[in-house]
Amino acid sequence: MLRCVWITALMALSATSSEAQVPAASAAPAPPTAAPAKPVKPVQLADSTPRGKLKNPYSASDKTIVSSGAALFVSAACSGCHGGTGGGGICPPLTDGVWIYGGDDDTLFRLIAYGSQTLQSKGYTRKAEENVVAPMPAMGEVVATDDDLWRILTFIRAQYHGPPECRLGCPGSGNAAP
Ligand code: HEC
Repeated sequence: MLRCVWITALMALSATSSEAQVPAASAAPAPPTAAPAKPVKPVQLADSTPRGKLKNPYSASDKTIVSSGAALFVSAACSGCHGGTGGGGICPPLTDGVWIYGGDDDTLFRLIAYGSQTLQSKGYTRKAEENVVAPMPAMGEVVATDDDLWRILTFIRAQYHGPPECRLGCPGSGNAAP
């Protein structure tokens, strides 16, 4: 747990310094003509979507999306804390039936984008405990777009090996989707 906290502090520091390096007016690439939805930052999507309404557009059976999510999971450094396949390392596993704040798409997207402290400040409560209890850093700047975050979550869904009924939160445990 201590190591996990330490890494959390380190992540916060590196997030601040990398932010400082981003040029104020970075040249935006020309928008493609027939783009589907314009990608936005994860926090932007979370802020502009009513609670409970964020929904993963991808399926965990889509192997192309899952493998791109796996690569993003590593490049966004999720793997440094949660292990390369999400099974837990110095931080909690993401693949079991225990969901700290809830296992639905909406809660997990917000947890990752905002971090656990901001999530709690928005009224979400801890409903379960994993083997490690420490704050989860906000990753909404590290993960570039909402689409990237959905891909990462699709990878996490594909790694799930807990009880089938607990995939999105265990019924009766208070952490299933309302
Ligand atoms: C600095 C370490 C660290 C990093 C980096 C990190 N996490 Fe976490 N994560 C945590 C901790 C600690 C918790 C538990 C939070 C709590 O107990 O409140 C957590 C919780 C979670 C949970 C909920 C798990 C559950 O059982 O309910 C998910 C999902 C998650 N993280 C995904 C991610 C993703 C995706 C990334 C990369 C974008 C990431 N994390 C990066 C430390 C980290």
